[in-house]
Amino acid sequence: MRSLRERLAARAGRLQPSPIRELMPYLSLPGMISLGGGYPNPSTFAFDKVEVTFRSGRSVTLTGDRMARASQYGPTAAHPALAKAIAQWQRFKDGVNLDDTGLVVLNGSQEGLFIAAYLFLDERDWIVAAEPLYPGTLSAVRAFCPTIRTVGLDGDGLCTDELADVLESAAARGEPMPKFVYDVPSGHNPAGVTLSLERRRHLLDLARRYDFYILEDDPYQLLALDSEARLPTLQALEGTPERVIRLDSFSKVFAPGLRLGYASGPAAIMRQFVLFKQCANLHTSMTAQEMLVSFLEVHGPEGFMELIEANCRCYRENRDAMIGAAREYLPPDVAYNVPRHGMFVWFSLPRGFDADRMIKSDAEELCVLLVPGSAFAVVRPMRDCMRASFSMVSPPEITEGMRRFAAMIQRERDRCGG
Ligand SMILES: Cc1ncc(COP(=O)(O)O)c(C=O)c1O
Repeated sequence: MRSLRERLAARAGRLQPSPIRELMPYLSLPGMISLGGGYPNPSTFAFDKVEVTFRSGRSVTLTGDRMARASQYGPTAAHPALAKAIAQWQRFKDGVNLDDTGLVVLNGSQEGLFIAAYLFLDERDWIVAAEPLYPGTLSAVRAFCPTIRTVGLDGDGLCTDELADVLESAAARGEPMPKFVYDVPSGHNPAGVTLSLERRRHLLDLARRYDFYILEDDPYQLLALDSEARLPTLQALEGTPERVIRLDSFSKVFAPGLRLGYASGPAAIMRQFVLFKQCANLHTSMTAQEMLVSFLEVHGPEGFMELIEANCRCYRENRDAMIGAAREYLPPDVAYNVPRHGMFVWFSLPRGFDADRMIKSDAEELCVLLVPGSAFAVVRPMRDCMRASFSMVSPPEITEGMRRFAAMIQRERDRCGG
């Protein structure tokens, strides 16, 4: 296995620890009088008290030391109480043990995508991802390296056999291996599919065999739309953390505006994440982290999961409405998968259809909007695809929206000459 140093991009090799931030552990030593830090005095902070009432009806009040802690600078990796709560959460939901060196709290998982790209990708590197691809990943990766090799997707997620072919050909040509393979294993954005257990195992086997990292971006893991048992994460299947860098997000199950997510994985890689954050933004908002800590304190992992499951019922109803309406209104030559996680359905339109043209010509008049496939294109144009989301609309709106989508399809068929 190649060392981390060999894998890092040149710029990451130049990241230096912040000399002041590295002194932070001394601050918590008993009796320490610090004349060292540049922290502002808490008595000067604007907030006196924040009262939070959760939708469950339970509430917390942040006052005194707790309010001061929420308003003050904090450690780079994580609010200490949140690190503990997240470790408990990961054990509860995934059966994975994380310690303090194995996780970093982020400004949403999007920050993790950017950091991974920043840390590992030089101009001449490459990664592999399934196409269509979440545009947030595309732009983070493209900021540092132009080469994304793509593989297809089907109802079982990323086609690992195709990935094996890509890797084998690269190895046969004597090329270096990709820096990482990226996937959204549950409720893929935009394709809506979930990576099967067999393919999860295959992906890990390939990672060991060809010695690359896996970037497991899993914000839709907990938006489960069917009652069947949850699949183990790639991180859980790996066991000892070596090659899986996992990104969890609180956006889809808590509150996206707080901008909270976390990376977890091998300690040496998490250390690099910390070095990045030390120079980019010092740490994720302590106020936001304190809100999450208080929520988890009051509800516990079981209570949090119950709330998530209650929320999933709304998404399940919407998914069922969309699939029901698709079956009723869409012509048989429009293909789609029934999502088991997440909030998206990916429609493959008949050959020759142009989704950009459809939106430009008809979205305003028919009053229905989907995202054209080109927004998720990497190599192929993806012009004959569209992404529909069922998260923000009611079942009757979904039904009417799909009826209008069917009309849009008919108009395009007429333009294409039947
Ligand atoms: C696949 C995927 N990754 C990452 C993100 C970013 O999520 P966050 O809000 O945690 O930054 C999104 C958001 O839509 C997403 O769909």
